[in-house]
Amino acid sequence: MLMRILPGWLYSRLPVLYVLAGVLALVFASHWAATFSGIMLIAAGALVFLMRREAKKSGRRRRSAAAQGAVHPAHAPAAVDSGTLKWDSGFECGHKVIDRQHRDLVSRANELLLALSGQHSRADIELLIDELIEKLEEHFRTEEAIAEAAAHPDLDEHREVHRSLLAKASALLAEFQGGKAIRAELASFVSEDVLAGHVAGEREVFAAR
Ligand SMILES: [Fe+2]
Ligand SMILES: [Fe+2]
Repeated sequence: MLMRILPGWLYSRLPVLYVLAGVLALVFASHWAATFSGIMLIAAGALVFLMRREAKKSGRRRRSAAAQGAVHPAHAPAAVDSGTLKWDSGFECGHKVIDRQHRDLVSRANELLLALSGQHSRADIELLIDELIEKLEEHFRTEEAIAEAAAHPDLDEHREVHRSLLAKASALLAEFQGGKAIRAELASFVSEDVLAGHVAGEREVFAAR
């Protein structure tokens, strides 16, 4: 599986790289074969993007069907404590975008925790981790831009916290993709580092922004 062979950052950018290579081939094409290759690369990039989107959608459909009829996570074999976090208005920092992203992170993290404590396939869990990392990256970019614009005194320190959270998430994903049985470690990372540590614990950082 390509996802297991390529590093995560390269795998996630593959469709964009195909399209870029195609555009470059078209721009510098001096022969019909180069033009043809450019068109094929762009088509391949679009196809990979659409296939991934469809895989994510069908993964979500399967998970929601499983959640409706299935064994409750608490009764599932090899259960991991779900450690989900219920959204509380006390987590809000007052910044509309950050609060919206934090709510989304809580809901994605809870979905992953339930999947880890239930009977979801490894592929479904990989997709959920992958999506959570994507959303964390986007969220950290947003927070850092806001903190930078506000000349926040703790920006560098905060940036470092973000880097180490992302590094830990990627390392855990790589271990899971490598076949290691680390559901408990993943659950602890999500509930302690992402939910309790990041979302619930950093209200003060942006409260006055
Ligand atoms: Fe943060
Ligand atoms: Fe945050």
